[in-house]
Amino acid sequence: MDNLSYLLSSFVLVFFWLISSASTANTKFFHFNVQYANITRLCHSKSLLTVNGQYPGPNIAITEGDNVVIKVSNHVKSNTTLHWHGIRQIRTAWADGPAYVTQCPIQRGHSYTYKFRVTKQRGTLWWHAHISWQRASVHGAFIIYPKKTIPYPFPKPDLEVPIIFGEWWNEDVEGIEKDIIQYGGGPNVSEAYTINGLPGSLYPCSNKDTFVQKVESGKTYLLRLINAALNDELFFAIANHTMTVVEIDASYTKPFTTEAVMITPGQTMNVLVTANQRPAKYHVAACPYVTSKAPFDETRTTALWLYSKPSLSIDGNQDEPVVTENLPVMRDTAYATKFTASLRSLNSRDYPSNDVPKKIDREFLFTISLGLQDCPRGKICKGYYGGRFSASMNNQSFVRPLMAMLQAAYYNMSGVFSKDFPAQPPRKFNYTDNLLSMNMNPQFGSRIAVVNFNDNVEIVLQDTSLLSFENHPIHLHGFNFYVVGNGFGNFDPEKDRAAFNLVDPPLRNTVAVPSAGWTALRFKADNPGVWFLHCHLEIHTTWGLATAIMVENGPGPGQSILPPPNDLPPC
Ligand SMILES: *[C@@H]1O[C@H](CO)[C@@H](O)[C@H](O)[C@H]1NC(C)=O
Ligand SMILES: *[C@@H]1O[C@H](CO)[C@@H](O)[C@H](O)[C@H]1NC(C)=O
Ligand SMILES: *[C@@H]1O[C@H](CO)[C@@H](O)[C@H](O)[C@H]1NC(C)=O
Ligand SMILES: *[C@@H]1O[C@H](CO)[C@@H](O)[C@H](O)[C@H]1NC(C)=O
Ligand SMILES: *[C@@H]1O[C@H](CO)[C@@H](O)[C@H](O)[C@H]1NC(C)=O
Ligand SMILES: *[C@@H]1O[C@H](CO)[C@@H](O)[C@H](O)[C@H]1NC(C)=O
Ligand SMILES: *[C@@H]1O[C@H](CO)[C@@H](O)[C@H](O)[C@H]1NC(C)=O
Repeated sequence: MDNLSYLLSSFVLVFFWLISSASTANTKFFHFNVQYANITRLCHSKSLLTVNGQYPGPNIAITEGDNVVIKVSNHVKSNTTLHWHGIRQIRTAWADGPAYVTQCPIQRGHSYTYKFRVTKQRGTLWWHAHISWQRASVHGAFIIYPKKTIPYPFPKPDLEVPIIFGEWWNEDVEGIEKDIIQYGGGPNVSEAYTINGLPGSLYPCSNKDTFVQKVESGKTYLLRLINAALNDELFFAIANHTMTVVEIDASYTKPFTTEAVMITPGQTMNVLVTANQRPAKYHVAACPYVTSKAPFDETRTTALWLYSKPSLSIDGNQDEPVVTENLPVMRDTAYATKFTASLRSLNSRDYPSNDVPKKIDREFLFTISLGLQDCPRGKICKGYYGGRFSASMNNQSFVRPLMAMLQAAYYNMSGVFSKDFPAQPPRKFNYTDNLLSMNMNPQFGSRIAVVNFNDNVEIVLQDTSLLSFENHPIHLHGFNFYVVGNGFGNFDPEKDRAAFNLVDPPLRNTVAVPSAGWTALRFKADNPGVWFLHCHLEIHTTWGLATAIMVENGPGPGQSILPPPNDLPPC
């Protein structure tokens, strides 16, 4: 090589290095391998679906403004997809993840790289598989730190600790789901709840599987709570310690102090806890909050909040008694209601809530119902009265299409889904009356609702007592919404709208609709795409409690969905 070409090639190399470092400066890369791992809990060893062999999966930690690139490789026979729960995915709905909604699944031996930028969001979110019941074990924390120069709007904690709640089955979760689809029954309940993958000492053969948080007197801890359980809303408390709630679903709240919190599947919550009690061993515990009449896992999971003091070391003094927690009873709806009513947006100068929609362009009332179909002739059915369970919104039980709705919408394909989801219940009735004599069959189909770009949307979610009422955690993809009101009984547009909180309502991505009650949400439809709306109790989504909201592209620059990535999986 002569000197000139050597010089030139070095120049070219340096040039490319400069370009790539400029574009990677704020890009965070992750490689997620979906694979099995042998995991043992309650003395049952099983092959568990995981990311990178970890249960719970790896945490993602990034800074607001970062580009995120996550390559997901599927090494198992089942199809898979991952969802970044609560990330808004502005113009990048292709990276949202729900199977057959925004993408076809990643098949065995294939990869898909999720690419998106996280802006105007900071706090605790999470990620999980979004196909079948895989999220039982395929999940982890998604932490967004504020930019370096921007402090938290609360005292800086000494330590931050993710606390992920889950459910453990000794059997194979895939088998449980298959059974439900085949026979239309309910699920086998879990054997245990878990804290960071560990059940704690109250179960058979689980004493060593206890999460331990060592604490020092006087220090303050930020617990990043994530409810990754499949089918159970939870109460959570720490013995003798109060918690100060400062954030929900990655949105700051007015701080308020409480002895216990209620957190539904899909929700996240940051709480501050100061180690200000007599140095001892304390239980950290979660138990279900139950409103349904169906069987449920009645156990409680525990972890240890252990003050550092030599006599308390786990090996040192086993006999030191644990101070036990004081959780609400499992059906304490009064406690859950009071807790939810205490949540308010921070609404400060730096984090104002001045974008609560005051005037509404699109109004929806969606009823939430469980249902029963007759058993097809010659089949065995395991639902009540020998039927098949179903679930619906506005009497529409969602059937997942054979290809992704977002792709079908983008390529103008017809026949995949229809845009005629009813804006109002097809039949008006007293939703919370005794309805045992009513026809409990829904309609089956893939109907979704459509709104224009930048519409101010109001959705009232109304629980019904068809079959049985129940508190439902409803999750909307692609948005945060303000929870402007809720109550028991039937929504009364005149009386209830007059009482809406349009000043500092909580901002969430998953909301608990009260059992035999209603919740009103408002948001601006400023993100084009097809956005899944569903119950985060996995069993209800399996039964059809889902639809989607399609937001059309806007007319202006930067108001359309970006083109699909080249590696988007095909169906
Ligand atoms: C799990 O354990 C079984 C039996 O010991 C073994 O055959 C299998 O390879 C293990 N799987 C993994 C993913 O380590
Ligand atoms: C559900 O639990 C029952 C009773 O423990 C068990 O016999 C059955 O195999 C389980 N079903 C599935 C699908 O795992
Ligand atoms: C925990 O609280 C209970 C009830 O208030 C009290 O009786 C007990 O002494 C406390 N335990 C410790 C270790 O402070
Ligand atoms: C879909 O139809 C719209 C409106 O007719 C058109 O602007 C767009 O280019 C079409 N998209 C594709 C991918 O063909
Ligand atoms: C609806 O049913 C409930 C429960 O039976 C009853 O208390 C309520 O008065 C009914 N509402 C109306 C408007 O009829
Ligand atoms: C739901 O749709 C089914 C099938 O069309 C119908 O039989 C039933 O009466 C409807 N129920 C309600 C509450 O609208
Ligand atoms: C995986 O997804 C593809 C595309 O939708 C589908 O054709 C195939 O049957 C699925 N495979 C399994 C094992 O579910």
